[in-house]
Amino acid sequence: MGVASIGYVRIASTDTAAWMSFGTEILGLMDAGREDAAGARFLRMDDHPFRFMIEPAEADKLLACGLEYRDREDWQAVCDALTAAGHFVTPGDSDEAKRRCVSNFATVTDPSGNVLELYYGRLLDYRPLVSPVGISEFITGDESTGDMGFGHAVLPAPHTETTLSFYTDIIGLGLSDDLYPPMPEGAPESRVIFMHADNPRQHSLALYNQPHPAAVVHLMVEVATLDEVGMALDRVQKAGLPLLATLGRHINDNMCSFYVLAPGGIAVEYGYDGLLVNWDNYVPTVSTEGDVWGHEYSFPG
Ligand SMILES: [Fe+2]
Repeated sequence: MGVASIGYVRIASTDTAAWMSFGTEILGLMDAGREDAAGARFLRMDDHPFRFMIEPAEADKLLACGLEYRDREDWQAVCDALTAAGHFVTPGDSDEAKRRCVSNFATVTDPSGNVLELYYGRLLDYRPLVSPVGISEFITGDESTGDMGFGHAVLPAPHTETTLSFYTDIIGLGLSDDLYPPMPEGAPESRVIFMHADNPRQHSLALYNQPHPAAVVHLMVEVATLDEVGMALDRVQKAGLPLLATLGRHINDNMCSFYVLAPGGIAVEYGYDGLLVNWDNYVPTVSTEGDVWGHEYSFPG
């Protein structure tokens, strides 16, 4: 297994102040309290220097997912395998590595156009996490589970089969679940493929078989208790933000969550109680239902 975790995302925003307010006051993330030369702002969840990088831009969309490898050897092996398979791998320069607080990284685009930053050697921030809304902790791993990353991302993958092979054969993710959710009569087939990294989180990255204007279907962050999810839902409703799915529980990762639209149009899932899996004896599943209960969806389109 290659990928250790999904370490961070970079988000392009036409209103970084609005994104920072959403991140801190609604999601409860901590403003890392710095702005870089390009005007980027940073949101923390744990002892990583940031999990979300919010960058000023002309359009709102996901810019990149950062995938962490355990060491230089794992990382170099994947970069070499990508190059051998004909993918264009761009080495990151030292200033850009510093900006991401990593030892080294390289950029590659998947067959559906999603940008990945492959890295190793992340620096840590030793200042305690103080959530502005009193979140006790974000679930990103501990001494027993190791680093489980910030949560998960679901990426658009209209070139579904080649993109799936790219991740499972080269990047180093494993298949968790292949979901064909029930669709209304006449609607195109919908498919979501869930993949895990080398940590117990049921999925770190998933692929959706349709394009998406925000370059991401949703991002997920996880807290420790149902009350913290409920209180976040109260904050969403008080702020009048668009709710994209009511409270519910997913079947495959057991996540009890709701979905809210962030400023600029990225959907964020906010949940607790995500399943942890021992991958040693795991057999990937094929699902035909996404939810145990709830999650009444009102995603645009
Ligand atoms: Fe999700």
